[in-house]
Amino acid sequence: MEAVRKHKKAGSFWRGASWKHHRDAKRGRLIFRRRRTALFASSKLDRPPAARPHCRRMARVDIANLSKIFRGEPGGEICAVRNVSLAVADREFLVLVGPSGCGKSTTLRLIAGLEEISEGTISIDGRVVNATPPQDRDVAMVFQNYALYPHLTVFENLGFGLMLRKFPKEEIAARVQEAAEILGLTPLLHRRPGELSGGQRQRVAVGRALVRRPKVFLFDEPLSNLDAQLRGQMRGEISRLHAQLGATMIYVTHDQVEAMTMGDRIAVMKEGVIQQVATPQRLYQEPANVFVAGFIGSPPMNLFGGVIARQGAGLHFEGRAAAGENFSVRLPVEGALQCAGFAGREIVLGLRPEHISIASGATPPEQTVRAVVEMVERMGAETHLHLRAGAHPFVVRVAAGSAAAVGEKLPLAFDLAQARFFHPDTGAAIGSTTNGHE
Ligand SMILES: Nc1ncnc2c1ncn2[C@@H]1O[C@H](COP(=O)(O)OP(=O)(O)OP(=O)(O)O)[C@@H](O)[C@H]1O
Ligand SMILES: [Mg+2]
Repeated sequence: MEAVRKHKKAGSFWRGASWKHHRDAKRGRLIFRRRRTALFASSKLDRPPAARPHCRRMARVDIANLSKIFRGEPGGEICAVRNVSLAVADREFLVLVGPSGCGKSTTLRLIAGLEEISEGTISIDGRVVNATPPQDRDVAMVFQNYALYPHLTVFENLGFGLMLRKFPKEEIAARVQEAAEILGLTPLLHRRPGELSGGQRQRVAVGRALVRRPKVFLFDEPLSNLDAQLRGQMRGEISRLHAQLGATMIYVTHDQVEAMTMGDRIAVMKEGVIQQVATPQRLYQEPANVFVAGFIGSPPMNLFGGVIARQGAGLHFEGRAAAGENFSVRLPVEGALQCAGFAGREIVLGLRPEHISIASGATPPEQTVRAVVEMVERMGAETHLHLRAGAHPFVVRVAAGSAAAVGEKLPLAFDLAQARFFHPDTGAAIGSTTNGHE
């Protein structure tokens, strides 16, 4: 009785419906038509049939003041997610990125309904789902360890979830075949996971989510078990899948390259707190604080501690470290305006490795810093020079053929028109026009 009640409550258009299908002669695709029955003739849940996966429902996720506290032994509380607010738009690919243990998986598990919310709300399409069990949230999660059933074929692995939900056999077959086609798994449907490569197994894991046709896809570091080359390839495949399905996706990773290349927007997280939400470009150009500046970018932004000093009519940044030589560079007009309130005070200067170059004869002395080469990293297309000016270590991106050698003392030109400035205590960007959320 209970099973029947649940079945009715789920009310899915697909479940229990009767289908007929034929192959489209021109395109060779399967075309599905629902048999006309009185029960379904006027159903509000009428949805595009299986052969048209691109037609889909709206899926917006709103997270408001979300917190998760794990209570262990007395006094041993862990606040994994702190007051997170985030709006993920319909069809958006949002990447949640941050270092290990910052609360990414917990956030995703809260959205999926696999963890109980301590505070705040999660809404999907305007409906609060705090109390909705995971199976009724219409979200599908792809995990890092894809956990396929080793004794089942790819076909059976893909269809297993639908079978448990008692979908009709023809419907399962149609969905599995469609997902296999999208993911290039069709020739592998009869194989078992042990006979697949890592990338193919990962595709099966994605396929399991795909066959469910969820409103929202949640990915938890799905590529971290793959080698670098395959990861790059799968990154492209997931991005293409997103474009093809037009689905809402929330993707967790600790790899900032993955975040930058895949996300429409990126939310950077640290210790359970969202630091900044922005497009990859904005995040790179205008990090909201020193954490984001030092996390995004490879190599990341150089950060120099120092003071703003008046010299004649202008302002200079004087690099000051606890020990060692100082250096002084003149700020251009915009920089000087931004830092005017900091004259005589400490500040942190941020400059990307591509905004420092080896000085030419034309570089004015007040924009030149002398530094010693400590390491030369040849990347193929470019070279990274690791330098030190007094006690300040920094990295410069130069042309691949640079002749710079370890131990050499070089004059470096600082393009301070590109500099960002941060508060020395809070680490927040100075003069930023955003509050970190877009
Ligand atoms: N079930 C649990 N009980 C107690 N503490 C937990 C539990 N799950 C996670 N935590 C803690 O919550 C914090 C966030 O964990 P979470 O798994 O969300 O991090 P993450 O950002 O996904 O890290 P990683 O990149 O390593 O996967 C960590 O300090 C972790 O130890
Ligand atoms: Mg995790």
